[in-house]
Amino acid sequence: MPAAGDNTAAPLVPSGGGVKALRQAAAGCRACPLWRGGTQTVFGAGAARAPVMLIGEQPGDREDREGLPFVGPAGRLLDRALDEAGIEPRRTYRTNVVKHFKWKPKGKRRIHQTPSKLEVEACRPWLDAELERVRPDVVAILGATAAKSLLGSGFRVTKQHGELIEVEFAPVAVATFHPSAILRADDEDRERAFAELVTDLRVASEAL
Ligand code: URA
Repeated sequence: MPAAGDNTAAPLVPSGGGVKALRQAAAGCRACPLWRGGTQTVFGAGAARAPVMLIGEQPGDREDREGLPFVGPAGRLLDRALDEAGIEPRRTYRTNVVKHFKWKPKGKRRIHQTPSKLEVEACRPWLDAELERVRPDVVAILGATAAKSLLGSGFRVTKQHGELIEVEFAPVAVATFHPSAILRADDEDRERAFAELVTDLRVASEAL
């Protein structure tokens, strides 16, 4: 297997093949130090030519154990929001800007840590390759880490969520709140943020 470059997965990305080939190649990725703490690479999953690509930050505890994105509590909330927005799961591909779980121990628990710019950048060739292979019609960007990575450091999800944005990596994109942030909010804020997530996903759906 080719070695990863200096903080970039680029040399590992196969030039041919579909998402399956990418997933196989990414399984051994050591382009940044996060592979040491993670159980496995959690690559994107979903329809091979999904019209809607959902991009989150990084796998959580459950995703790290199961090897699939959005299978934990945040994923369940996302499923509910997609359902309310009228987006069928079979029309989606779900992935993250970082494909290893970054965490620190707290007692017996593993607590999520925000990935650094370096880690996000090291992982970016995988995301670019997924975008190139899946070729979604619309991308829904979930949360600040993914938004800053894809839309620039000045992007503010709180102010700009729900806007249709012209991007170079897809026909169009919409940024919205991260399901994990919604789960962390207090009761009142949670309901409002969930409703906004649904509204923003409808914007994505209507862009199809
Ligand atoms: N949060 C994410 O951003 N991605 C997942 O896969 C799970 C939780």
